[in-house]
Amino acid sequence: MLIMSIESTCDETAVAITENGRRVLTDQIFSQADLHAVYGGVVPEIASRSHVEVISQLSERALSVAGVAKRDLDAVAVAYAPGLIGAVLVGVNFAKSVAYALGIPLVPVHHIKGHIAANYIAFPELEPPFLCLAISGGNTLLVDVRDYTDMKIVGSTRDDAAGECFDKTARVLGLPYPGGKHVDALSKNGSDSKYVLPRSHVEGSPYDMSFSGLKTAVVNLVHNAEQKGEELDRESLCASFGRAVSESLVPRTMQLARELGYKKIAVAGGVAANSRIREDFRAAAEKEGAQLFIPPLSLCGDNGAMIGCQGYYEYLAGTRADTALNAYANMEL
Ligand code: KG4
Repeated sequence: MLIMSIESTCDETAVAITENGRRVLTDQIFSQADLHAVYGGVVPEIASRSHVEVISQLSERALSVAGVAKRDLDAVAVAYAPGLIGAVLVGVNFAKSVAYALGIPLVPVHHIKGHIAANYIAFPELEPPFLCLAISGGNTLLVDVRDYTDMKIVGSTRDDAAGECFDKTARVLGLPYPGGKHVDALSKNGSDSKYVLPRSHVEGSPYDMSFSGLKTAVVNLVHNAEQKGEELDRESLCASFGRAVSESLVPRTMQLARELGYKKIAVAGGVAANSRIREDFRAAAEKEGAQLFIPPLSLCGDNGAMIGCQGYYEYLAGTRADTALNAYANMEL
């Protein structure tokens, strides 16, 4: 079954062609990062306009690279939530037009379920049930993946997402947007115990998380140093910060896996590219005798293939939308 899938929830426009969910024929991704870099963050209107400009050409290129004719497509899948509303609308409207013009089913896909499905592409042997930590620019969720389409959020951030916290730290240190990978790169030459940063704990909700205290601590530390004219050890600050985020995520995930009786743990989303988090998960899983699944960097960030993969399983489960499909800024899993 051939699916064209579309992702436009934030600052990447992506169109992929996948076969039977897990085989990626092509994944055409246009990153808008350069357009937003000058503003230090995503500007929603610029994002929407850029999606409008590139989405048709990307879909033509996807078909030609995959060697697939339009008439061979069996369905079109689209990320319809959550995300920047103007950005999501572009992908949804385009997907509706494709479905309408070709007379093929339209399959709506939850963006976070797509991130989780990136693991199915990377690991052909992986099947639910398992526990997944989904960490991206806008979400930090502990998800019980009971089946391909049946998932339950067991824990989530009460305020900022882990990715937001990385981006804010990068910004206050004057690093380019999107900052996570720059903080990650700097941290490799620093000491992770030089700066003492807080780890949060939500009273009565052991699997919920909070990153705003950590974010504020970093911002205050940098501003205080500036005011006093003190030189900061930026590499050690990044290393100490990365450690604080990782220690808020990894032990919690392992504890929940134990509680739910899972020996399979997956990680998904842009922040899953972080080297410290990857290393800490590897060590923890080995100690626990658990199987760990973290996609390669190319499948951690937003892409079209993950939407095609999840779209396939949604299709099998009977999920369909008609031409009245709308876009949503927020949506339960
Ligand atoms: O999943 P994603 O591409 O987009 C969303 O759906 O949000 O995630 C983007 C987030 C950004 O906050 C970015 O700074 C972060 O992932 N990120 C990283 C790394 N690479 C990307 N954070 C930490 N370390 C990295 N290596």
